Amino acid sequence: MSKKNIKWQDIKRRLTDETKEEAFMAMLEVKDIYKAYGDVEILKGVSFTMEKEETKVIIGPSGTGKSTLLRCINQLSPPDKGQVWLDGEEITNPKTNINKIREKIGFVFQDFNLFNHLTAVRNVSIGLEKVKKIEKEAAQTRAMQELTRVGLEAQANQYPAQLSGGQKQRVGIARALAMDPDVILFDEPTSALDPELIGDVLDVMKSLCGKVAMLVVTHEMGFARNVADEIIFMEGGVIVEQGSPKEMFTNAKLARTREFLGRIGALYGEEETGG
Ligand SMILES: Nc1ncnc2c1ncn2[C@@H]1O[C@H](COP(=O)(O)OP(=O)(O)OP(=O)(O)O)[C@@H](O)[C@H]1O
Ligand SMILES: [Mg+2]
Repeated sequence: MSKKNIKWQDIKRRLTDETKEEAFMAMLEVKDIYKAYGDVEILKGVSFTMEKEETKVIIGPSGTGKSTLLRCINQLSPPDKGQVWLDGEEITNPKTNINKIREKIGFVFQDFNLFNHLTAVRNVSIGLEKVKKIEKEAAQTRAMQELTRVGLEAQANQYPAQLSGGQKQRVGIARALAMDPDVILFDEPTSALDPELIGDVLDVMKSLCGKVAMLVVTHEMGFARNVADEIIFMEGGVIVEQGSPKEMFTNAKLARTREFLGRIGALYGEEETGG
């Protein structure tokens, strides 16, 4: 049969049930997640999927549950109900080795979370040694590669106190990258930074687009508009609306989405940091 004559239907028919399931499974699947703190329900049924190398941006008002959602995904705060699947493995299954899975999920924190008593390169290499059991020299080499990737080769031997906020955050990103994650979760990675330092961090994140899947909680509307494959608008513990940046910025279905995007765009302007 010539290539032209192979029809999608034929290919589908040839797949066994098992491979079929695998072939159509998203890289990350978040399924009907609920989370309460005490009597207060924070997440009320959140579902979405992500494919390999996709960039998704989550936006929404303060207190909506965006950070809680990220923490439910990597099980820092296990959800009360619902499932999270990574690469076909159910993370939320108590039988899953969560430490093994966490290696595949990078996390970049708003306040960097670096070890202050360790140099930049050591902050990156320590996880490789302790978690991945890579020997010291190889871990150091790999850490240097990742620091170079985020533009910090020259700062490798400086301690966090000797780095700017933007540099610290880039060490945080290098640390996440070094573990070779399937997906990196970013929780407002630039919101603790002085405005003039935000651009460098966003540039590094942009350079990663298409190379690793990124789920980014941010108010940086320029980044969302220009870089995201999809924007997810959350409010009150649910996803209100989601779509491509074009759909969301020019043709959002719900008045509430349009209002929020308008307000956040005015607050955080796109020009300076947008890119
Ligand atoms: N560990 C906790 N214990 C009790 N309540 C919590 C805890 N963590 C978060 N909350 C509450 O859950 C709600 C959602 O918090 P979350 O941090 O997920 O919101 P957010 O959308 O990330 O907000 P922001 O934009 O301000 O970061 C808030 O009302 C918060 O006070
Ligand atoms: Mg938050």
